[in-house]
Amino acid sequence: MIRVLSAALVGVTGVPVEVEVRLSSQLPAVDVVGLPEAAVRESVSRIRGAIAAAGFAFPDRRVTINLAPAELRKSGAGLDLPIAIGVLAASGIVPPERLEGRGLLGELALDGRLRATRGSLAAVLAMVEARAGEAIVARGCAARAAHARAIDVRAADDLRAVIAHLRGDVPLDVAHERASGATPGAHETSPCLSDIRGQQHAKRALEVAAAGGHGLLLAGPPGTGKTLLARRLPGLLPALRDRERLETFCVLDAAGSLAPDEPIPDAPPFRAPHHSASAAGLLGGGSPIRPGEVSLAHNGVLFLDELPEFDRRCLESLREVLEQGVVRIARASQRCELPARFQLVAAANPCPCGYYGTPDRDCRCDDASLARYRRRLSGPLVDRIDLAVPVGEVPWSQLSAPPAGPTSREVRARVAEARARQHARGVASNAAIPDACLDALVDAEPDALDLLGRAVERLSLSARSARRVMRVARTLADLGDCVRTPRAAMAEALQMRAGW
Ligand SMILES: Nc1ncnc2c1ncn2[C@@H]1O[C@H](COP(=O)(O)OP(=O)(O)OP(=O)(O)O)[C@@H](O)[C@H]1O
Ligand SMILES: [Mg+2]
Ligand SMILES: [Zn+2]
Repeated sequence: MIRVLSAALVGVTGVPVEVEVRLSSQLPAVDVVGLPEAAVRESVSRIRGAIAAAGFAFPDRRVTINLAPAELRKSGAGLDLPIAIGVLAASGIVPPERLEGRGLLGELALDGRLRATRGSLAAVLAMVEARAGEAIVARGCAARAAHARAIDVRAADDLRAVIAHLRGDVPLDVAHERASGATPGAHETSPCLSDIRGQQHAKRALEVAAAGGHGLLLAGPPGTGKTLLARRLPGLLPALRDRERLETFCVLDAAGSLAPDEPIPDAPPFRAPHHSASAAGLLGGGSPIRPGEVSLAHNGVLFLDELPEFDRRCLESLREVLEQGVVRIARASQRCELPARFQLVAAANPCPCGYYGTPDRDCRCDDASLARYRRRLSGPLVDRIDLAVPVGEVPWSQLSAPPAGPTSREVRARVAEARARQHARGVASNAAIPDACLDALVDAEPDALDLLGRAVERLSLSARSARRVMRVARTLADLGDCVRTPRAAMAEALQMRAGW
């Protein structure tokens, strides 16, 4: 029996698959175990066509193909190549010992050409775990797959080239990862913070959000710059670290949203889905399961503009995702976890008409609709967003003044220093400090804790809210280069959650 290593994509994760091929001297037929019915028929006809196009005969015997693990629901056509090679090895065209330590992946066209498959990076990472030393993939996804280290990735154009490589005739090219830096980073393309007039308080909150990875809600009347502010966050954030870049790239690849030669990103992703997005588009789903916006924002920013306009059930699910950092999808046929650790930035009007609490303007909303509107966000979400700041109207004198205040470049430098302090403490960001070590890492001065205690009583803050205030205070202390968290930081942190 012949065994060929391959891998299948489940959500955004690769799972090793072993293709077993056996020939027996019964009437010619092909049995495939471990693939859905319809996929088998299509796959077998592609493989027959490709083998003929490469100039070889499909065996004139009974071919039994087993894809293990059988219970794993495999989707995608990436198993064509390993099946075809397994068949050719079973009929003596490819030496079976040359399959040792190699993994194969690719969809075949009827004429034998190899097509790129989505999720090839995750699949090759799974081959690394299965101890393969070489992966053979379609040229169209080879540069992406080459980001899996500790394995030689070889790029093939068609089945004939793979056969020649495995027979030791003509070796396939080794693929190289495409270095980042080839495309401009977010800080070069995103507009500057100093374009926004006034809004010093909101800009400060944006800096704190960037420095500590905190969620941020911008609340205010129409046309005050909420969307402008949120869109400047990518220009303030530090570059991704190595492991994060690979994770993020895997998600983009599994979503099928990468161009063949797209470089691995340096900058964190920034996703801004429209409020009409479906639950599947936002959270992931479909068949086969594809990542949604929350996963595409993994290690980056999810910006939900006009937050109250989003579907209520989506907002409910979002709460769970925020808490757990993953989306769990369970179906009869398939279950998987999609990564979704992102920084949430949201914008909202304070009420349906937009002017609640605005000086010199009358809110036209009645009490009932105002209460309904506020409740939509308060319970489920706002309690889990660290920063909520008001974005008020800017007076004409400021709007007509020349750009002022810190530039994105200046803020980015301060953010990078504050993040370095957090990394030195062993956390990715202050927003991610686990509850268990919160007191120790925040290390608040006694009078800071006094202040927090009094605020908790006076404002009847939940325990969760109090912990969020502590995390933000730690970020303010890091921005101010304080070893312990001082009272002033705690006071400012308390103020920065009062916007909703
Ligand atoms: N603080 C500001 N500085 C400079 N321009 C501003 C400012 N606020 C608003 N603008 C101008 O007004 C336009 C609308 O701003 P923006 O879309 O950010 O408002 P918004 O608060 O998101 O409003 P809405 O609640 O309607 O979505 C901007 O394109 C910009 O031209
Ligand atoms: Mg807006
Ligand atoms: Zn109103």
